[in-house]
Amino acid sequence: MAEEKKLIINGKRIDGRSPDDLRPLRIETGVLNEADGSAFVQWGGNKIVAGIYGPRECIPKHEANPYKALVKCRYTMSPFASKEEHGRSGPNRRSIEISKVIREVFENIVVAELYPMTQIDIFIDVLQAEGGTRVGAITAAAAALADAGIPMRDMVCGVAVGKADGTIVLDLGKEEDNFGESDVPMAISNRGKELLLIQMDGLLTKEELAIAIDKAMAASEKIHAMQTEAITKRYEKLESEGLKL
Ligand code: CDP
Repeated sequence: MAEEKKLIINGKRIDGRSPDDLRPLRIETGVLNEADGSAFVQWGGNKIVAGIYGPRECIPKHEANPYKALVKCRYTMSPFASKEEHGRSGPNRRSIEISKVIREVFENIVVAELYPMTQIDIFIDVLQAEGGTRVGAITAAAAALADAGIPMRDMVCGVAVGKADGTIVLDLGKEEDNFGESDVPMAISNRGKELLLIQMDGLLTKEELAIAIDKAMAASEKIHAMQTEAITKRYEKLESEGLKL
């Protein structure tokens, strides 16, 4: 826990941000040739790639649902993603949990009834990690699904809010995530403003949690705008290359 490590000095965070600042965020879609849709997100020190395959034949076949597509998700961290070693373990407890919560976000968003008997795979690789990879992964996967042309009820992005040195801070960096008092990753839909994911590490009071949710909602507007820009750019490029949409 945080006791010895100063995370806020003279009102500024250790990377120089104010409490309500996001880290620099860049979103690009259409980054993988062989996937049906893809996106790359660089968010502070996070580098995350999402690739979508599907709707395609459901394997194993006995899992196929005659009423809707199955949404599957595999989140993974590359061996060189952080100072910790991720190479030999394959899927671990953390990556299985993160894959599950991300899948649940998209089960609520993808219009799966349009594609019975199929599956839609969301693959997410974290190439570099610096805190907040699950929310970065959700932001990347949503852009990649849009890039794949998969109908969604709403757009979704993720952002974490937490508490460091007694201050509520937006978009936790790694130190704040690891040593702060609390970390609350959230996923928020664009039009509906629904909270599709909320997890909590550490503690916040009820009042602090309400503030955290408000801050995440406000930040989600900015992140959604960047997702939209990335997707628009991609479609403009395809159009300028003469490809029929
Ligand atoms: O990445 P996210 O904040 O969604 O998940 P976390 O489990 O709260 O991890 C926070 C950060 O600690 C990650 O983003 C990584 O930078 C680092 N971490 C790591 O490098 N290896 C792990 N096994 C767990 C965390």
